[in-house]
Amino acid sequence: MFFVFEGIDGAGKSTQLNRFNGWLESMGHEVVTCADPGSTEVGEALRAILLAKHSMPIHMRTEMMLFTAARTQLVEEIIKPALAAEKTVVLDRYLWSTVVYQGHASDLSSDSIWQVNRIATDGLMPDATFVLDLPVDTAMERIGKSLDRMESRGTEYMQKVRDGFLTEAKRFPDQVFVVDASQHPDHVAQEIQTVAQKLIDDRQEDS
Ligand code: TYD
Repeated sequence: MFFVFEGIDGAGKSTQLNRFNGWLESMGHEVVTCADPGSTEVGEALRAILLAKHSMPIHMRTEMMLFTAARTQLVEEIIKPALAAEKTVVLDRYLWSTVVYQGHASDLSSDSIWQVNRIATDGLMPDATFVLDLPVDTAMERIGKSLDRMESRGTEYMQKVRDGFLTEAKRFPDQVFVVDASQHPDHVAQEIQTVAQKLIDDRQEDS
């Protein structure tokens, strides 16, 4: 099975992702976990261009294509082989991030990002995407002072990112699950596990 964690920066993705992986492993799943962009050699090189603070101009469409190109490599080099070997894949971000950060919060059309990403991922979609949702002010406090290129875009941008995730979740209620990340981490983890357990059970019934 294939799960994705999404959300604004500072929503607590890493903590919940680690807990989720531990939970899956405790149930006997063989888990492959990756970060998008990253986790492949090409992906890490593109991640450095995209996230480091530098003075190189990057057009928004270029930015969208680079995030997406890193994803193609991740799909082909890691995700597809892992799923073929019946492993459980857990990703830190996937195509919703591009739709939201480069689309909703920037000036590209979400539809064109969807089109490009359908090609780039060969149509590979997760079984579930968890959006960790949190007010922007709280998230910014959690991030602290050392901001990367994207985080430096400020609170107005992050508000659009948050709204974008909520809009996309409403469009795809069977695939994208919004979790209130301002709750105690134990409750957040529990909510995620309840949704995942149901999907895992449904899958077992089907097979
Ligand atoms: P993130 O995944 O939050 O990693 P870290 O916790 O190491 O900062 O950082 C990735 C950043 O890139 C984050 O600000 C979201 C942004 N991003 C996009 O703008 N578009 C994308 O398609 C993806 C995958 C990420």
